[in-house]
Amino acid sequence: MTDILDAEYRTGQIKLHGPEGFEGMRRAGRLAAECLDMLEPHVVPGVTTGRLDDLAREFILDHGALPACLGYRGYTRTVCISPNHVVCHGIPGERALREGDIANIDVTVIVDGWHGDTSRMYGVGAVAPRAKRLVDVTYEALERGLAQVKPGARTGDIGAAIQQYVESMRCSVVRDFCGHGLGKVFHDAPNILHFGQRGTGDVLKPGMFFTIEPMVNLGKHPVKLLADGWTAVTRDKSLSAQCEHSVGVTEDGVEIFTVSPTGRFRPEIRTA
Ligand code: MF3
Ligand code: CO
Ligand code: CO
Repeated sequence: MTDILDAEYRTGQIKLHGPEGFEGMRRAGRLAAECLDMLEPHVVPGVTTGRLDDLAREFILDHGALPACLGYRGYTRTVCISPNHVVCHGIPGERALREGDIANIDVTVIVDGWHGDTSRMYGVGAVAPRAKRLVDVTYEALERGLAQVKPGARTGDIGAAIQQYVESMRCSVVRDFCGHGLGKVFHDAPNILHFGQRGTGDVLKPGMFFTIEPMVNLGKHPVKLLADGWTAVTRDKSLSAQCEHSVGVTEDGVEIFTVSPTGRFRPEIRTA
């Protein structure tokens, strides 16, 4: 996700793409989704996040694609893995996942220059009911955002739908990171805030490509950045969840580029 302070410096108008852009994004989005599908059986107690990162990188390279995050602004890994109170941009390494953890894995691939960016939640073994509930709320929040996407709607309609639902479930929406335009560029205009007011923001037009990627906390919304310069965690140490799709605005609605071909995008979390 883009951090908002940085993205404010972006200028210029929002790109509109034609059929070849949609074709390219379908291929990139599908491979990104397949990468997350591939990881699912490996997300078990004891696996290190570094091992999952290696598997993702090998999968992407084996499919003739490039890992977009590797080398991006000095990031040295293929995916971000964000367990429990990590909000986003967790750096894979020696940490082993444990029974009961929830974790987001976020992958971005480049296929023929097009970026496919998606993330979803995984449960490690059986998790606490409140953790499962947070994951379900986050998934539904993304669905509510997606339902707003059609020509003539505004980016603020997406944010408002997400915020209203999340807060109605007594959770909070992270403010410091947002969704973003993408295509041949990884992080582009427009910003897609996951909170806000209906009728505000950029007007959606056919051919716009962007992500929706709400981060939802069980506690309060403030986050802090760890000393590694990447890892964002909840200030109150409450659990956080996220899910992300890359989408295009069509003539009458939305096309989701990062649908799992095997229907695995919606997490099936087991509870203890
Ligand atoms: N995939 C993230 C997003 O949703 C971006 C990660 S950038 C990285 O936009 F450098 F941290 F990998
Ligand atoms: Co993104
Ligand atoms: Co992402």
